[in-house]
Amino acid sequence: MKTVTLEIDGKQVTAEEGMTLLQAANQVGIAIPTLCHDERLKPAGVCRICTVEISRGDWKRMVASCVYPVEEGLKVTTDNEHIRKIRRMLVELMWPAWTRVDKDLEPAHPRFDSGHPDCNMCGLCIRYCRQVLKKDVLYWEGRGVDRHLAYVPGMGKECVTCRQCFSLCTGGWIVACHGYDEEQPAK
Ligand code: FES
Repeated sequence: MKTVTLEIDGKQVTAEEGMTLLQAANQVGIAIPTLCHDERLKPAGVCRICTVEISRGDWKRMVASCVYPVEEGLKVTTDNEHIRKIRRMLVELMWPAWTRVDKDLEPAHPRFDSGHPDCNMCGLCIRYCRQVLKKDVLYWEGRGVDRHLAYVPGMGKECVTCRQCFSLCTGGWIVACHGYDEEQPAK
């Protein structure tokens, strides 16, 4: 097993080659907020909430830690005012993404709150359905601003009985769509 050594928040960290920055940070107890990430799924790097700053000499850049691989000698900063500003803005744009976001990032006065459950386009339900359940009931339909979540025709009913991705939904859309309520499950 090949390893690389990097610095995360001033700590020397040894990680297995191929690990992501998020995994390397987590293994030494450094938490990074995530939204579209789930350990059971292949990382997709959609939401950018896990943004961290990487640097090497004078060179610096922001990357999504859930997809960026560890590199020898890299310096990683997981939290500073600039990173928090980026994360807060992203959370605000996706609001209400209340179910999986660090409370510290919750906007006091969200400017873009649609006031109802919405799809955050995180893709967790699609990836979970495909990669874990091997069902492929959901997919993205349309392009650009018209892109939206859709059911393979005739397959939506299957979700009412399955519901396994419901707890992953970051915007509440899939739950609202099925009228799902834990105390009063949809029939
Ligand atoms: S958690 Fe990394 S991009 Fe969403």
